[in-house]
Amino acid sequence: MADGITLENVVKTYGNGDTAVHALRGVNMSVAKGEVVGLIGPSGSGKSTLLKCLGAVIEPTSGKMTIGDQCIYDNGWKVRDLRALRRDLIGFIFQAPYLIPFLDVTDNVALLPMLAGKPNAVARKMARDLLDALDVGHRAAAMPSQLSGGEQQRVAIARALINRPPVILADEPTAPLDGQRALAVVALLNDMAQQFDTAIIIVTHDEKIIPTFKRLYNIREGLTVEEIPQGIASPAPAVALFEGDTARDKV
Ligand SMILES: Nc1ncnc2c1ncn2[C@@H]1O[C@H](COP(=O)(O)OP(=O)(O)O)[C@@H](O)[C@H]1O
Ligand SMILES: [Mg+2]
Repeated sequence: MADGITLENVVKTYGNGDTAVHALRGVNMSVAKGEVVGLIGPSGSGKSTLLKCLGAVIEPTSGKMTIGDQCIYDNGWKVRDLRALRRDLIGFIFQAPYLIPFLDVTDNVALLPMLAGKPNAVARKMARDLLDALDVGHRAAAMPSQLSGGEQQRVAIARALINRPPVILADEPTAPLDGQRALAVVALLNDMAQQFDTAIIIVTHDEKIIPTFKRLYNIREGLTVEEIPQGIASPAPAVALFEGDTARDKV
């Protein structure tokens, strides 16, 4: 699909020789504009490596990656300025909000557009509008330490969205949140995806939110990624599959 994100046969090997770690061995993935997909898999399976490659934080070993109609990597970076790529195309959300403790909530969110040259008043207005949309507008003048965990994560989401990036990469964004707040954050990301046509990948092993994904990728042993329909991971029903069969016949 032309829009959104595509990864084709992306390989990432850390190190070389005897100590090489084959973190990704040929990952294929696609996310449409406006779509939120989940990425699940056991610890060490390569989830963070995949997000870091796509987010131009680390360089893949080989493969192809596109964002929108722009090929960003094809057995080598296709973009000269990777900082600009990260700033303009990617919003990151991490497990911890990583807010800047000595800036208030508004400035935490306004910082990126300010650094990009927007007048401070314009950047702050953009930040406040987004904070309102995320239901934390009433905390705009607070310092990060005065916020609850859920509020901090909303601010972190606002910061990721402020430049309206076409891609959001969220690595375990709900890990520090309780069930209700975790679901609220995912609902919010779904709203944002639709509102801003953003392609979003959420890495998670949070059982509470996994059923909310319409599409899910499962990465196993760091080797491959495959699409699995929702629900296939649930235990098979202990009933006869065909008339006359017993459940035990099928086990
Ligand atoms: N900088 C690194 N150097 C060497 N090996 C790494 C590095 N980062 C991750 N790995 C290894 O790559 C594999 C995948 O790691 P990671 O992508 O962090 O997995 P996940 O996020 O699914 O837990 C693991 O075996 C991990 O130890
Ligand atoms: Mg990880």
